Amino acid sequence: MTTIFVLNGPNLNMLGKREPGIYGGKTLESIEQDCRQAGERLGLEIDFRQTNHEGQLVDWIQEAGDKAAGIVINPGAYTHTSIALHDAIRGVAPLPVAEVHLSNIHAREPFRHKSMVSPVAVGMICGFGPHGYVLALEALAARI
Ligand code: DQA
Repeated sequence: MTTIFVLNGPNLNMLGKREPGIYGGKTLESIEQDCRQAGERLGLEIDFRQTNHEGQLVDWIQEAGDKAAGIVINPGAYTHTSIALHDAIRGVAPLPVAEVHLSNIHAREPFRHKSMVSPVAVGMICGFGPHGYVLALEALAARI
């Protein structure tokens, strides 16, 4: 079956408790279940992971280059800082990458307006909360 890596960066393990006014009350486990359900519907196997470490995300992106047909990634704060993630995604081209953010990063602090990932992603979905993950999986499924 076609595998999609769904990668989550720092502090996303805290969803449910972390700034619920911004990120909502849903846990990452619950988002994982939503992704698995969407995967069943779309015929995609979901490999869902979270780490607080930048280098781990780089390793997983490289692994996806060998094992996956696409990546959905919410890089958390590394979105705004990480040339390493940018380079890792370039390194696995043309593997399609969909960037997701729960919040609308453009409606928040100026330091969140810049993404290092967007220039190397197929597209970016932000501001739709957890549903953004499902939208990203649908977008990748239509493209693969
Ligand atoms: C986030 C937005 C980032 O700016 C922030 O650092 C996060 C979460 C989001 O999903 O809205 O950790 O990626």
